[in-house]
Amino acid sequence: MSENKDKSKIIDVFIDVEAHRLTADIVKKHSTNRNDIREVALKGLNLEWCRNIVELGCGFGFFTEALKGKVHPEAVVTGVDVISDYKSPFLEACKKAGVKGVFTSSGASVVKDLEEKSVDLVICSYSLYFFPEIIPDISRILKKNGLLVATVHNKENMGELVHAAKDVLAANGMLQKSVKLPIEILISRFSSESGYETLSSWFQDIRTKNYVNTLIFKPGDLYFLLEYFSFKQPLLLLSGTHAGLGPALNLLKIHLEKLFTQRRGNFTISKDDTVFVCSKPLYGRGT
Ligand SMILES: C[S@@+](CC[C@H](N)C(=O)[O-])C[C@H]1O[C@@H](n2cnc3c(N)ncnc32)[C@H](O)[C@@H]1O
Repeated sequence: MSENKDKSKIIDVFIDVEAHRLTADIVKKHSTNRNDIREVALKGLNLEWCRNIVELGCGFGFFTEALKGKVHPEAVVTGVDVISDYKSPFLEACKKAGVKGVFTSSGASVVKDLEEKSVDLVICSYSLYFFPEIIPDISRILKKNGLLVATVHNKENMGELVHAAKDVLAANGMLQKSVKLPIEILISRFSSESGYETLSSWFQDIRTKNYVNTLIFKPGDLYFLLEYFSFKQPLLLLSGTHAGLGPALNLLKIHLEKLFTQRRGNFTISKDDTVFVCSKPLYGRGT
């Protein structure tokens, strides 16, 4: 994906703040893992000393909210997201977390402008695959005892939807099965599987925590499955390769409804994640 196409897909998916929140609620309600991944990620970390914090790809501040009571009372969290509509929900999340908030919509490359060894904590949930090229800068801006805590998806994330999309689009002559969908390209840039190797050039100490999870849509849940799909669909459909996005979308919805009925309303979607806790930044010495 070129940078511009990439950006337009991101905007297509995440521009609707309310739909993003509703999707997060669907994920929470339909997850087999009842633990909150943010709590899992932050468990056992002493963050009381952290004052200068950056959340990259913050959205509505899902991760920042979980810092409540865990960081320095004078902590300031800078939320970074390309979509400016997240400013007010992010600042609201900061209020809930009891921290001072600042928001910038300049995009994650803004870390290039931050001073070296100036940040205590960088947090990043489900966003690093949008900008893995800034990992060297994350290492550069962290203090010696600074931390990067990131949650990322496994490669097979949403695999069932990817397969369904490919099957139906190929069967209707709208896609060659070998063509990668936007979500596959995105996740291949940074995932649970590839993350360790990428990070190990920039951090001496990397701990991982597996977060095993599946989304289950039971009888009566078809509406929520289709809502989840609708939110994610720009990442599943390729403009340009299709006869038209509208017809492709309709075909895919009908196909999902059929699969849901065939499986008697027991539709599962892979949602395993990994938490990376990275410390001892190498400042380029590991490359
Ligand atoms: C999957 S959402 C995760 C949002 C939030 N961290 C959460 O866990 O709910 C990814 C977020 O990354 C943002 N994003 C994508 N590319 C970005 C970039 N280059 N710079 C900053 N934010 C970006 C999107 O706008 C979106 O809000």
